Amino acid sequence: MTTTATTDPRLPADADATVKLITDAAPRMYTWNYERDRDRLVTLYEKAMGSQWNSVTDLDWSTDVDPERLAHDSAQQSVIVQVARAAADLAGSPFASWGEREFTQLSIESLEAQLSQFMHGEQGAMIVAAKITETVPWIDAKYYAATQTMDEARHTEVFAKYLHTKLGDAYPMNAPLEAQITALVEDSRWDIAYLGMQIVIESLALAAFGSLLRWTEEPLLRKLLRYVLADEARHVAFGVLSLSEYYEHLSAAELRDRQEFLAENTIRNRTRSTTPEIWERMGLSVETAMPYLSEAAASLDKSVFTGFNDAFFSKLVPNVRKLGLLDANDGHLRRLWADAGLMKWEFADDTATDYESYDAVAADRAAEV
Ligand SMILES: [Fe+2]
Ligand SMILES: [Fe+2]
Repeated sequence: MTTTATTDPRLPADADATVKLITDAAPRMYTWNYERDRDRLVTLYEKAMGSQWNSVTDLDWSTDVDPERLAHDSAQQSVIVQVARAAADLAGSPFASWGEREFTQLSIESLEAQLSQFMHGEQGAMIVAAKITETVPWIDAKYYAATQTMDEARHTEVFAKYLHTKLGDAYPMNAPLEAQITALVEDSRWDIAYLGMQIVIESLALAAFGSLLRWTEEPLLRKLLRYVLADEARHVAFGVLSLSEYYEHLSAAELRDRQEFLAENTIRNRTRSTTPEIWERMGLSVETAMPYLSEAAASLDKSVFTGFNDAFFSKLVPNVRKLGLLDANDGHLRRLWADAGLMKWEFADDTATDYESYDAVAADRAAEV
């Protein structure tokens, strides 16, 4: 797990190495205005209350999960497995001696690593939603963010439970994801937590969960993902509603900061998240595996790597358009994203569609009546 030196004097004496400290610079806001005057947030909050599912009773945890079967399905979409298979053809490669048993094991490890990132990311989302509850000035947004905090607690819990009871040992949090979420928690501007989590990371989550849902046949994972996705689509809607109102009143310089934040989190910072511990668990050192993996990756069709980014940007760009951030400052962000080829997603199917199609809990409850 993620570690912090236990010698940090701010840590309680009995803290162990599984604790990480983050210092948050944002001021908390108490509001004395209890007027419910943001109708769309009121509606979203009521919807959120009615859509809370129960992580224990709404999912059938007695389902038998066969990791090899899951791995077989996941191998089709796993970039890491495709790259390792290509690396097996390279002279002198440590993958040359691998048979189907090793590739199956790699698929299982890769899925465990992916679900581990979901679990850590969901805990980050829970912390950020709690921060939004404390820092946002509007009562309707505080109420909503409180329901989201509960949603994210459930998400963290179900990914942790699925990993531990159905798959195996979790992996540590990837360094880029950890850095991204830590920065949101530390930031002193309340809307940056919103923008980073509700718009950027939630769009990533919708793309990642959506792709996992498309390939897996495993019924417990499918139901869990549908329930999580229904919640996430609402979270993005919350971000869009709140920020589009707030950004109407910011100065050009403040809007430019937000545009730069988005450029930073998309085109300038595209380090591919990797989990080096996978290679260690497969009995290889990262130093031995990497040169062959890099060479193999360069030989593969680019579409192997762009599929996920396309799914992410097709969620993100339309939502950023709704915030008015593409065109502020004479289209500063529109120009940056156009140069990076992202503007083709401006009118892609956005998360409003997800919100309707993923109303999974309501659909299941209606079916049960
Ligand atoms: Fe979540
Ligand atoms: Fe969320």
